[in-house]
Amino acid sequence: MTTGSGAPRGSTRLAAVIGSPVRHSLSPVVHNAAFRAAGLDWTFLAFEVQPSALVAALDGVRALGIAGLSVTMPHKEDVAHLVDELSDDARLLDAVNCVVNDGGRLVGHNTDGPGFVAALEADLGVTPAGRRCLVVGAGGAARAVVLALGRAGASTVVVANRTVERAEQAAELAGAAGRPVALADVADEVRLADIVVNATSVGMGLQGSADVAFPPDALRPGQVVADIVYQPLVTPLVAAARRRGLAATNGVSMLVHQAAVAFELWTGTPAPVAVMAAEVEQSLATLGEPSPR
Ligand code: ATR
Repeated sequence: MTTGSGAPRGSTRLAAVIGSPVRHSLSPVVHNAAFRAAGLDWTFLAFEVQPSALVAALDGVRALGIAGLSVTMPHKEDVAHLVDELSDDARLLDAVNCVVNDGGRLVGHNTDGPGFVAALEADLGVTPAGRRCLVVGAGGAARAVVLALGRAGASTVVVANRTVERAEQAAELAGAAGRPVALADVADEVRLADIVVNATSVGMGLQGSADVAFPPDALRPGQVVADIVYQPLVTPLVAAARRRGLAATNGVSMLVHQAAVAFELWTGTPAPVAVMAAEVEQSLATLGEPSPR
């Protein structure tokens, strides 16, 4: 059943990422390393798919029996409307980052939120249950984080965003725990939170910049800080939090854990998370440039 050598043969199962651009995706190296480590006869490829070819691509997945897909920019929302079935999370988020091919029936999932919560636990030893959480941002990644924090039992999930209407929509995902605020009023919420999350793109790709989405002066001892940005590895927010003695983590672990959840959905096998993390870290260190999954 297994080869471990990585050479495809007749029985090899295929998973793939679709996106545009997809050249710099980390998914192939991460998942191929995971398949090898788990001794699975699977392989993983990246397919550049334009929006105009998305329907044909998904028909191709069905026709060819491709076992699993990762979905990245710009297709996450469109795929949610093209699969045969959606998980609860994918339906609520109206976005799919992972597809399972169940005998020709495509089931869309969203693993970003569970990946974020797993990363919080793995990196910072924190579980959201009963905690006051602040999420800055209200885009696709932020929405997944808000939903997951609410599901994990956070006592409050305050959502702060530059565009306050988007904060209102995102906060609803946390149910009764959710509350929107304008970004201009965020400092008080920063002071009150146990877990502070940057889920905006602010700070991305700006080595040496001091860009943060909110003033870090309001951070206080005892809080933990999670930034979903991972380029640079030490983001301006992570650096600011650590200077104040706070435990802080970047978005690498979320990237790894959302991939691990996808791996488990496709294969039914526990993901070799440590191998996947080492692969991502090595790729980011050698690439030295922004690398969307
Ligand atoms: P993604 O789906 O990857 O999360 P997105 O939907 O473009 O990306 O969302 C980006 C997030 O970063 C949004 O919350 C955005 O705020 P708006 O909703 O007001 O656009 C936030 N963001 C981007 N640049 C920002 C900036 N300079 N200051 C504050 N927030 C910013």
